[in-house]
Amino acid sequence: MGSLLIKNGRLVTVEQVQQKDLLVVGEKIKEIKDSFTAEEIPAGCTVIEAEGKYVFPGIIDAHTHYFLQSRNSTTADDFYTGSVSAAFGGVTSFIDYAGQFTGLTLAEANQRRREQAEGETVLDFSLHQCVYSLHPGIKDELAELKESGINNLKIFTTYRKEGYMLAEESWEELFRLARELKLLITVHAEDNQLIEEIWAGHQSRTEFPPDFHPILRPPQTEYRAIIKLGRLAGQLKMPIYIVHLSSREGYQAVKEIRASGGRLIVETVPHYLLLNKDLLQERQAQKYIMTPPLREEADRQALWQGLQEKGIDLIATDHCSFTVEQKLRSNHCREILPGIPGSETLLPLIFSKGVRSGYFDVRRMIDLLSTRPAKVFGLYPEKGSLQVGTDADLVVFDPKKEVRLADARQHSAAGYTPYAGIELQGYPLITIVRGKVIIKDGNFYGKRGSGQFLPAQESSFDQG
Ligand code: URP
Ligand code: ZN
Ligand code: ZN
Repeated sequence: MGSLLIKNGRLVTVEQVQQKDLLVVGEKIKEIKDSFTAEEIPAGCTVIEAEGKYVFPGIIDAHTHYFLQSRNSTTADDFYTGSVSAAFGGVTSFIDYAGQFTGLTLAEANQRRREQAEGETVLDFSLHQCVYSLHPGIKDELAELKESGINNLKIFTTYRKEGYMLAEESWEELFRLARELKLLITVHAEDNQLIEEIWAGHQSRTEFPPDFHPILRPPQTEYRAIIKLGRLAGQLKMPIYIVHLSSREGYQAVKEIRASGGRLIVETVPHYLLLNKDLLQERQAQKYIMTPPLREEADRQALWQGLQEKGIDLIATDHCSFTVEQKLRSNHCREILPGIPGSETLLPLIFSKGVRSGYFDVRRMIDLLSTRPAKVFGLYPEKGSLQVGTDADLVVFDPKKEVRLADARQHSAAGYTPYAGIELQGYPLITIVRGKVIIKDGNFYGKRGSGQFLPAQESSFDQG
C-alpha cells in the first residue's frame, strides 16, 4: 500500500487550525501528530513539505450539472472534463442530479445517471434525485431509491415548459412521503405563477436580450416561492433545503420563515456573491445567463451578510457549463442555454473574497465548502473531515499564491470563466482523492473513471 506524508501543514477543520503532520496509508488518513521522525516515516513514503500551506479536507461541490442533456443540448463538460476541472480547484467530491424519466422508476433513473458518471469521473460523487411529477406507486420507488444510497430529492417550482416543474398541488404529497422516509427535500425556488404573469405582460415586445432576464425573473419570485415552500414545510414540521439563493428578498424570506419556526438549510453560489447584472449589458452577455439571473449590488451584499451572520449554510456552484459558441446561439434571454462553469473556481474565489475580505475565517470556509455539505448530504465523516480512518481527500492550499483568473487557465470544456480578470490571493496546489495525488502544481495525474459512487446516509440535519 502506498503512503504519503504531508509535513508541517496547517490542518484546517471546523474546530481548529493546527500545524501537524498527516500520514496517509492507502486510501485513508492513518495518523495525525505533531511530527513524524525520519524513522517513523514508512519506507517508500512520498513526503510533501507543506510549511506555510493549509491542508483542507477535500472540497465538496454539492450542486453540479455535468453531462446535462437538456433543451436539445448537452453541456460542454461531461463527467470527465467536469470532474477534472473541479479537481484543479481542490474539489474532491461532487453531487450531481439525476432526472426523472417516464418508463423508469426513480431508482432506475438514478442508476442510469450513476452509470453515466462511473467510468468517467475522476472524483467521488453522490446524486440528488429530481422529481417532476407524482404517480401511483411512487412511495415504493422512493423507498427503493433511499435504499440505493440517495438521501434527498430535488424539486423545481418553475420550468413548466421544460417539464421540470413539480405542480404546486403535488408539493404536500411529496413532502409527506419525503418526511416519512427521511429524504431531504431540496428546491429550486422561483414562483412560476409570477414568472408567467410577468412574461404574459411583455408579449408585445419583439426582443428579449440578456439584460431583460432579471426583469422576467425578479427577486420577488424567489421571495414568494421560499415563503410558500417554507410555510408548507413548517406546517409539516420538516426542514427543506433551498438551492442557489440569489437575492436580498430571498434571504428576507428565509429569515421570515425561520422567525416563524421553519427550518431551512440554505445554499448560495459564487456567481450571486461576486457578479452582478451589469454584466448582462456587456458584449457576449449571453455568457452570464443562468437561472435565477444575476442581481443587483444590494443582493450581493445581502448574501455576504447572510454568510457572515450564519444565515446561509453552505456554498456550492450550480456548475452547468456551455461553450461560448453554445451560449451565443441565441440572444433571447429565455432561450440562451442557462448556466455557467464554476467548480474549478469555487475554493479559490471563496478563500480570496470570503476569508481574505474578512467575512469569515478559514474554519468557517471549510464548514461552508466541505463539512456542512458532507453532513447534510450524508457523506460525513468519510468526506468533509480530517478524521483518522476516513478517506484521504485533501487539498494542499497556498494562501499566498497570486492568480489572475483567465479563460486560458481554466480546465472546463466551456473554454471560458465568468470570473475572468478577478485577482486572487490563495490557490490550491495539490488535490488528493482517496490517498492519490491527482493534481500537483498545475498538472493532472488522475485516471479517468477512478471516482466512485458514494452511497449517502440519512442527512445529519435533524429531519424531526
Ligand atoms: O441556469 C442554471 N442554473 N442551470 C442549471 C439548472 C438549474 O436551474 O439549476
Ligand atoms: Zn436551479
Ligand atoms: Zn442547478
